[in-house]
Amino acid sequence: MGRAVLSQFLTLSNSTPRLSSSLFCGRLGSKYLKRPGSIRHNRTINGDNGAGFRCCCSVSLSQPAVPETSSIPVRKRIVSGVQPTGAIHLGNYLGAIKTWIELQNSYDTLFFIVDLHAITLPYDTQQLSKATRNTAAIYLACGVDTSKASVFVQSHVRAHVELMWLLSSATPIGWLNRMIQFKEKSRKVGDENVGVALLTYPVLMASDILLYQSDLVPVGEDQKQHLELTRELAERVNYLYGGRKWKKLGGRGGAIFKVPEPLIPPAGARVMSLTDGLSKVSSNR
Ligand code: TYM
Repeated sequence: MGRAVLSQFLTLSNSTPRLSSSLFCGRLGSKYLKRPGSIRHNRTINGDNGAGFRCCCSVSLSQPAVPETSSIPVRKRIVSGVQPTGAIHLGNYLGAIKTWIELQNSYDTLFFIVDLHAITLPYDTQQLSKATRNTAAIYLACGVDTSKASVFVQSHVRAHVELMWLLSSATPIGWLNRMIQFKEKSRKVGDENVGVALLTYPVLMASDILLYQSDLVPVGEDQKQHLELTRELAERVNYLYGGRKWKKLGGRGGAIFKVPEPLIPPAGARVMSLTDGLSKVSSNR
């Protein structure tokens, strides 16, 4: 990972990054996805998820959420997301979304629809577009409140992919080869049909989390290994580029990334299939 290239993200880590989600997405519209009172215009990112719905999203990466001198305690940050692959199932609800509803009251919460994760296996563009909207609608129907939480589509914020590339160069391939989900899914599809993205997918997930200096990540048990990789990657980057090395470059020194903790619910962390009690319920991809 080149230090000069990383500097963009060092700026980000210099202060608490603040994402203001102001999405103007096709039919969903800002009405549903806007977070009132938090729009900043440091950087405007325009995106199109390739499925014809366009979005304009403002992200303030360098402004602290609370002025440094303020005595108001900074709320811990939580990020999480669900892939828009077919119907959302009970596992997604009990393992993740249900927990979000409580958390949004006391944490700084960011819930995204992780459409870029959904293209690691063959997909239909129109269906992906529809599923992306449906997933957002399900978030809201389950009780995610956009006046409390930021809700947005992952591909609309390009920094996810940019940071992923930087993190890739610090990720040993052996770490990815060990991922159980990669082994399971690639066995199902067959080697010839497995795209590289299926292997590098956990790096994108790490990027989703580290980009926002997240403290906690509510997920089901199946994502625990990806969370462990995220933590190891954060520690590795901190060791390789942080501390005094960073200070010498004019940064503030210390850790570049926060090392996040998984938040796995005591009940519902692994919901099993009603038709096959030996397998967890999944979207069958
Ligand atoms: P995904 O879309 O497969 O699942 C979304 C959430 O649902 C949980 N889950 C389950 N929980 C209990 N029992 C089950 N049978 C079950 N099936 C799914 C998952 O653990 C997850 O919390 N890579 C992730 C999405 C992601 C993400 C992130 C999550 C991308 N970037 C950053 C958190 C933070 C995934 O594919 O989840």
